Amino acid sequence: MSKDLLSQNIVEMPQSGIRKFFDIIMTKKDVLSLVIGEPDFQTPMYIRQACIGAIIDGKTHYTSNWGIPEFRKAVADYLEYRFGISYNYENEIVPTIGASEAIDLAFRSTLNPGDEVLVPDPSFVSYNMCIKMAYGVSKRLPTYEKDSFKVTAENLEKAITPKTKMLVLSYPSNPTGAIMTKEELMKLVPIIVKHDLIVIADEIYAELTYGCEHTSIAALPGMKERTILISGFSKAFAMTGMRIGYVCANKEITFQMIKIRQSTTVAPATPIQYACVTALNDGRKDDYSEVSYMREKYDERRRYISERLKKMGLPAFEPQGAFYIFPSVQKTGLSGYDFAIKAFEKYNVAMVPGNAFGVSGENYVRMSYATSIEKIAQALDAIEKMLSEG
Ligand SMILES: Cc1ncc(COP(=O)(O)O)c(C=O)c1O
Repeated sequence: MSKDLLSQNIVEMPQSGIRKFFDIIMTKKDVLSLVIGEPDFQTPMYIRQACIGAIIDGKTHYTSNWGIPEFRKAVADYLEYRFGISYNYENEIVPTIGASEAIDLAFRSTLNPGDEVLVPDPSFVSYNMCIKMAYGVSKRLPTYEKDSFKVTAENLEKAITPKTKMLVLSYPSNPTGAIMTKEELMKLVPIIVKHDLIVIADEIYAELTYGCEHTSIAALPGMKERTILISGFSKAFAMTGMRIGYVCANKEITFQMIKIRQSTTVAPATPIQYACVTALNDGRKDDYSEVSYMREKYDERRRYISERLKKMGLPAFEPQGAFYIFPSVQKTGLSGYDFAIKAFEKYNVAMVPGNAFGVSGENYVRMSYATSIEKIAQALDAIEKMLSEG
């Protein structure tokens, strides 16, 4: 087919590095996989039951483009309770089809052609794609292991140009497991304000931090008005397949988002919205004990995988959030990609090459510990064998 028949903007968009790697690993069965970016736990039963209950009650019709008010109210209460941020549920919260739709809406509602967005490198793959779809220009903001993969004030200041309009902050981080503390975020605030930037804060892993509390940049003085906060249920509540999340922003921005969604997705599925109301409101009655249970299990695996990698001579930056670890494989003489291919082809272990998340990930691989400790142990045994056989 002639390329003229296609959107040039989309033709120019690269395929996601993770997808390409998934296609390769689908060619084999019974692989020891450290690839998957979703909880291995079941969605808590009380949430599944609420969803079934909503269907039985006939809550199966359209909702407003804003979703049901109970959803927005539950999210507002939850964000206040957990992170001390207060949003007006009437016009500052939009339920979305996963955090993924929130990312798309955030860029499309704010970018004009040619506007630049700083995206930490390495980071989650979707930002660059969604920026391109919104006719913006993504600019790398390299982060380094020596800085614990955090955005520093110095590197941020250096990367800003007169065209910079937005900054993506995605902490806890996929793929590095880095977090940013309140003090570290505070150092960025004067620069963000001075250059009049909007921050897209993707905080989908906010519930998954280990030994430290998550701070939302939206909770810092002067930041709520210039932050688009993205979060959801996929990771904390193990609800990836329910495809539900939310975006919070000032009402000028949310109104633009609603205009987009009137002609695209309309709203997330109605029974799922009701299930989320139960997840947040009933979950709060025991301080989200099911979330705490999963967090403790991830933490156990995190400590196990860090220790094992250290012992086998592949020490990694110690993750403090999400469920990934990002060891450098440079000392093996292989790039992250070649290391991952060799591990897959010869040792039957799958992990994602770090360059899928940006140029800064070239010498790294991402291992997910959202899988049982027994499976992690088997995969690590195989990697250890690979290292010893050279
Ligand atoms: C940082 C980050 N943001 C957003 C998403 C997408 O989340 P959802 O499944 O809710 O669309 C992911 C999924 O892996 C992620 O890692």
